Amino acid sequence: MYILAPSLLAADFNILGQQIRETEESGAQYLHIDVMDGIFVPSISFGMPLIQSIRDTSRQFFDVHLMIVNPERYIKEFAQCGADGITFHLEAVGNVEKIIEEIHAVGVKAGISVKPATPIEKVYPYLDKVEMVLVMSVEPGFGGQPFMPEAYGRIRQLRDYIDEHHLSVKIEVDGGVGKKNVREVIGAGADICVAGSAVFKKRSISENISHFMDAFKEKG
Ligand code: DX5
Ligand code: ZN
Repeated sequence: MYILAPSLLAADFNILGQQIRETEESGAQYLHIDVMDGIFVPSISFGMPLIQSIRDTSRQFFDVHLMIVNPERYIKEFAQCGADGITFHLEAVGNVEKIIEEIHAVGVKAGISVKPATPIEKVYPYLDKVEMVLVMSVEPGFGGQPFMPEAYGRIRQLRDYIDEHHLSVKIEVDGGVGKKNVREVIGAGADICVAGSAVFKKRSISENISHFMDAFKEKG
């Protein structure tokens, strides 16, 4: 079963609640929430008050992607404001095992993410400890960037490793995913596709999402 995680970053914040409900009604089971601090990445997005205020808008899994330095400072706060999953960047933490334990201790699923230049093997030691690996297919920091084709090899390599070792960790892919490449992305081994522009821009949300749902159904 494949999952679509619309990225809030591309939403129209003037009508945010309505747009979130539309993604849920169209079949998106996750909501991808990009938190940026202006240090780990150049841009600043939003934080706990926003997450808190949309928590009751949908029953989707709140998939919080922390693009911040020292993410261990805020695990409890993100759990309290409604995160169901917290993904941190491997590049942003010192003690990886400790933060995974802290995330699990507050009753939330843990994800680990790597930037495009970080060797994918670096996540191998943690694959039996986290629920998800987030493979970045753009340089984190902004929505609307083109998918980096080098990501296919990384996704496939990770998929093969997970399958060979009979692990249950999910692969999420983030950045530049849309109707044109979603089949290749899941074909390479992704379980969860993040999509910002491809969900919220151009056509209606329901029409945009239907392309993802069709691709997911085809693959089974
Ligand atoms: C990039 C973010 C992504 C981004 C995806 O730093 O992590 O989640 O919003 O947006 P699109 O799908 O437009 O590339
Ligand atoms: Zn993201």
